[in-house]
Amino acid sequence: MPVLPKSFETGIDAVDKVLPKGIPRNSLTILAGDLGTGKSVLMEQLLYSMLKIEKEPCIYMNFEGPPIALQQDMESFGWNIDRYFHSVTSALFTMMEEMKMMGKGAVFVDSLTEMFTLVQEERPLVFHMLDGVKSWRAKGPKERLVPFFCSHHTPLRAYADLDDLLFYVVDGIVDVRFNPGFADRGLLVKQFRVRKMKGAPHETYWVTFQVTPDGIVEVPLPVPVLTSDKPRTSKKK
Ligand SMILES: Nc1ncnc2c1ncn2[C@@H]1O[C@H](COP(=O)(O)OP(=O)(O)OP(=O)(O)O)[C@@H](O)[C@H]1O
Ligand SMILES: [Mg+2]
Repeated sequence: MPVLPKSFETGIDAVDKVLPKGIPRNSLTILAGDLGTGKSVLMEQLLYSMLKIEKEPCIYMNFEGPPIALQQDMESFGWNIDRYFHSVTSALFTMMEEMKMMGKGAVFVDSLTEMFTLVQEERPLVFHMLDGVKSWRAKGPKERLVPFFCSHHTPLRAYADLDDLLFYVVDGIVDVRFNPGFADRGLLVKQFRVRKMKGAPHETYWVTFQVTPDGIVEVPLPVPVLTSDKPRTSKKK
């Protein structure tokens, strides 16, 4: 078996900048954030880099729509994955076995929240989801050195308790948000930051980005426009 590096660089400039040694292959990372902040785009770009640059096998589990929806989304960036594409429904680990994913490749789950909402179980969702993530982490990143990336909607009131538990068991957390100061003024400025990444050096500041036709690109934080008509005393939250 060829020995691949224990970490890999994502090929996304804005991400590599804050993770100079890359992401360890034995990590399960959560991309956490509000609706529409860019989690799916970030995952799609990670997937594309992995396929195109690293040429490694990947599994993308998407619960937001049929497989064709992912292809169409990615097509809008010119990221054509037809020749890499296999529809994924179940048997994740059988598939990883068949695809000889050992020390290479990655698995993407978009989104964890949606996936576990679909699963009917007697137990409260929180525990079911937590068990699922723990077992994936053990069998995927740890045993096979195949990193997992899972998106997760926060903050949904129903999952508030879960988030703390979930964030505790995973190796990496990337927060994606709209900058709150600008959001107060009605401007949606996308940002991400690496909150946690076990086993790899990383910066923790917020990186401001835009979704461009080439994917995620770092941009400077806009200069706030100061209005004189209203003093900024009362703040929500
Ligand atoms: N093809 C595209 N071209 C330009 N901008 C895009 C494109 N796709 C997405 N975006 C931008 O990225 C934003 C967020 O998209 P994305 O679907 O990644 O959010 P998300 O965090 O996954 O949301 P959700 O939690 O609802 O799944 C869009 O609202 C849009 O501003
Ligand atoms: Mg999404």
